[in-house]
Amino acid sequence: MPERERQETLQSLKEKLANYERNVNRAIHKYNAYRKAASVISKYPQKIKNGEEAKKLDGVGKEIAKKIDEFLQTGTLKKLEKIRNDDTSSSINFLTRVTGIGPAAARKFFDEGVKTLEDLKKIEHKLNHHQQIGLKYFEEFEKRIPRTEMTKMETLILQELELVDTEYIGTICGSYRRGAESSGDIDILLTHPNYTSVDEKQPKLLHAVVEHFESIGFITDTLSKGDTKYMGVCQLQQNDEDEEEYLHRRIDIRLIPKDQYYCGVLYFTGSDIFNKNMRTHALEKGFTLNEYTIRPVGVTGMAGEPLMVDSEKDIFDYIQWKYREPKERSE
Ligand code: TTP
Ligand code: MG
Repeated sequence: MPERERQETLQSLKEKLANYERNVNRAIHKYNAYRKAASVISKYPQKIKNGEEAKKLDGVGKEIAKKIDEFLQTGTLKKLEKIRNDDTSSSINFLTRVTGIGPAAARKFFDEGVKTLEDLKKIEHKLNHHQQIGLKYFEEFEKRIPRTEMTKMETLILQELELVDTEYIGTICGSYRRGAESSGDIDILLTHPNYTSVDEKQPKLLHAVVEHFESIGFITDTLSKGDTKYMGVCQLQQNDEDEEEYLHRRIDIRLIPKDQYYCGVLYFTGSDIFNKNMRTHALEKGFTLNEYTIRPVGVTGMAGEPLMVDSEKDIFDYIQWKYREPKERSE
């Protein structure tokens, strides 16, 4: 195996072990440990020669170092081979790929003898609405969205928002905002100057947008619709020049009070690893940061009142961190 390929494989094995720990074993700490190790290894500029070398990296412990040695020496991992050959693990892992089926539901279906896509189709009537839509678009949702298509959707979304109400502020977050060449879904954050956290909830601000997107045929199915969070399916209309029909894509829209908007934009831009690192740094500087607010932590350890935030940069400034453009936020 060529060296570069070997390093890439090492990387993806870590991701696979991570998914196993999350979906089958329900061990979220191990999941996080593998994700973190995969991430530090991926940014390490040199080839990793052995576990000892990897162990020097922050986030790589003894267990993971052993796995690296095993892989570099034998070209495979016994644990992963076992998982691959284990019917229970691979079936449960597979079932969780359907949106709406989490680890618990997957385990339940598996115990009832449901293991494959075909099995799921046979018990469709037993699935809830979300899971039924997940099944209906299973193949389409597995495909990543090319950046060119994301850009088309962004243009359409922002244009149409303006038609509903010129004062809406919308941002497409997620990997797209970080400049990714492809994305798994569309994450829209929405706010309106008339809506702040001291006001009553204003679900109409969200629903008006959803209804408009439905009326123009952009939103095709709904998975769930709450006061502040919408989860659904969308599809671009085919254009005369387009050769192929666009696929159905997963879309989430969140309505956020204006004063919490930029904490939300920061959080949902990610990456999740960047978020964790930023939170840790914030704590070191005496602030607690989450998807809603940034608050100072007093000497007693109690969090104070939320600080005023009018941009992402404000948040970086509070914790004395140099501002990082979304493109620089992979970790
Ligand atoms: P995702 O859409 O799950 O991730 P993504 O947009 O980065 O990647 P993809 O192209 O596969 O869609 O979530 C959006 C952001 O929300 C993510 O970048 C960071 C944040 N987030 C967390 O911080 N922790 C989490 O557990 C999840 C699910 C998301
Ligand atoms: Mg995303």
